[in-house]
Amino acid sequence: MRIDILTLFPGIALAPLGESMMKRAQIAGLVEVAAHDLRNWATGKHRKTDDYLCGGGQGMLLKPEPIFAAIGELQTPESKVILLTPQGKVFKQAMASQLSEESHIIFLCGHYEGVDQRVIDELVDLELSIGDYVLTNGAIAAAVVTDAIVRLLPGALGDARSAVDESFSDPNLLEAPAYTKPIEFRGLKVPDVLLSGHHAKIEEWKAEQALRKTRANRPDLLGE
Ligand code: ADE
Repeated sequence: MRIDILTLFPGIALAPLGESMMKRAQIAGLVEVAAHDLRNWATGKHRKTDDYLCGGGQGMLLKPEPIFAAIGELQTPESKVILLTPQGKVFKQAMASQLSEESHIIFLCGHYEGVDQRVIDELVDLELSIGDYVLTNGAIAAAVVTDAIVRLLPGALGDARSAVDESFSDPNLLEAPAYTKPIEFRGLKVPDVLLSGHHAKIEEWKAEQALRKTRANRPDLLGE
C-alpha cells in the first residue's frame, strides 16, 4: 500500500508515523508513506496557497490551483483521494478496515476554513472527519487515519489476535477491563475469576464487563 499526504505541514503528519509500529510497518515494506508540502505546487513570487472567501466570510480557503497540480502529479488510476475535514463522514473502525484494502490513498489535508469546493467536486472521492471537533489542520487527522489503517495491514501487528479482540471489532461493544501483574497492588486485587483458570467463566465475566463498560461510557453504541 502507498499513502501520500498532501499538506502545508508535512512534519505534523509524519512525526507520529516515524515511531513504533508505524515505523516498523514502513521498514517491513507493508506501506510506503510520504508527505508532500502543498507549497511545492504553488506558483508566483509568494507561493500562495490560500485566499479570501468569495462572497465574504471569515478566514481563508485553500486555493484550487496548487491542489489540482499536486494531485494531478501524485494520482494513479488506483488512487483514492480523501479530504480530511470536520465536514466529512465520521471515521470509524469499519471504514479503517475498508480503506486497508486500497492500494493507494492520497490524503488531502484541509487548513484554515477548508478547501475550494471545486477541489471536492472534481478530485475528492471521500470527505472524512475524525470526530466532532475542529483541529487546527487536517495533517493531525491524516496521521490518525493512517495509523488506524496501517495497523490493520497483514503483518503489521505482532500478534494478529489483538486486531480481533479489541474494542470496535464488534462495533457495538467496548473491550472488557484488563489486568496484569502484580496480582495485588496497593491493596487492589485482580478479580478472582481471571485467576481461576476457568475459561468459560472468564469469557462470561468479560462479556458482562464489556457490556457494563459500554453502558457507562458509550450508551449510544447500545442505542440507549
Ligand atoms: N480538520 C480539522 N478538524 C478535523 C477533523 N475533526 N477531522 C478531520 N479533519 C479535520
